[in-house]
Amino acid sequence: MAEFITLGIESSCDETAVAVVADGTIIKSNLISSQLDLHARFGGVVPELAARSHLEVVLPIYRLALEEAGIELKDVNLIAATYGPGLVGSLLVGLSFAKGLALAANIPFIAVNHIEGHIYANVLERLPIKTPLLCLTVSGGHTDLLYLERWGVYKILGRTRDDAAGEAFDKVARVLGLGYPGGPAIDKIARGVTGDLEFAQIKGLAETYDFSFSGLKTAVINYLHRQKQMGAGIDVEQVAASFQRLAVEQLLDKLFKAAHDYRVPSILLSGGVAANSYLRQRCQVEAEKRGIRIFYPERELCTDNGAMIAAAGYFHYQAGEITGLEITAQPDLKL
Ligand code: KG4
Ligand code: ZN
Repeated sequence: MAEFITLGIESSCDETAVAVVADGTIIKSNLISSQLDLHARFGGVVPELAARSHLEVVLPIYRLALEEAGIELKDVNLIAATYGPGLVGSLLVGLSFAKGLALAANIPFIAVNHIEGHIYANVLERLPIKTPLLCLTVSGGHTDLLYLERWGVYKILGRTRDDAAGEAFDKVARVLGLGYPGGPAIDKIARGVTGDLEFAQIKGLAETYDFSFSGLKTAVINYLHRQKQMGAGIDVEQVAASFQRLAVEQLLDKLFKAAHDYRVPSILLSGGVAANSYLRQRCQVEAEKRGIRIFYPERELCTDNGAMIAAAGYFHYQAGEITGLEITAQPDLKL
């Protein structure tokens, strides 16, 4: 049987990404144009610059994605694009481009929730994972603990009450002078470092599955100020590793509390922070202790990409859904 080809387009933040995916799971091409250099000197994403850059690269990236997959637009069976959440100007570029293609070539279109895209990164290049399961989605904008009775049906068990996990990594990295984005930088310099400094954590969320990272972030910042005032040195690697350990332990506490309460056989990790080596390794150990199976996407599929959008779009389309072209960007879209 011929393969079913989905084109996936993602532009919600600072990555312009286009992918060609066969049968919802097999990656034929997955191209990402990152705007890192553009935003690095500002220490974060500048929305106006991001939108302009998407506009410049979306067409060339799309052409390359088709070329690398060895197909033409007429071979595409479905077009999927992110419609939220994200930066409105950025979202509009990818979404409008995708709708234009769908209209011009008369191809079915499906709009995808970016957070759901991250979850579906877990179906790429592997066999379907059986439900029920728990999914911890940790990115620059979201920290959600989800229960999936089946794929596509989400019960939100917990969320962050303040900063997202990735946001905390980025902010701590910034005060440590590690540049943007901070997550990968902290991951790298903390490798092999024990990280045994203690920073005060919020304790009030114990009875819930909710997270809080802003207290930890502030504790790190206060510690750095104190050290500076006393003229004491700062061991950047120790601070980074300690912050990472405490942030990851908070994630693990809630995740395995839910795994116990909901008795799930499997856990998924998704989102940019799921690329974190320490989180992956600690999760693996904790899951094995309890006889739970743990899945996370390949590192480069954890951060924003078009393949995850194609995968999510494909499975919704298979379930009989289709999106009208009147849809527009929804910056505050929820799961
Ligand atoms: O999922 P993503 O690419 O974009 C959003 O939807 O937000 O996530 C980006 C976030 C950033 O905060 C980045 O610092 C973090 O994921 N991140 C990491 C790592 N790689 C990316 N955080 C910790 N360790 C990493 N290796
Ligand atoms: Zn993302």
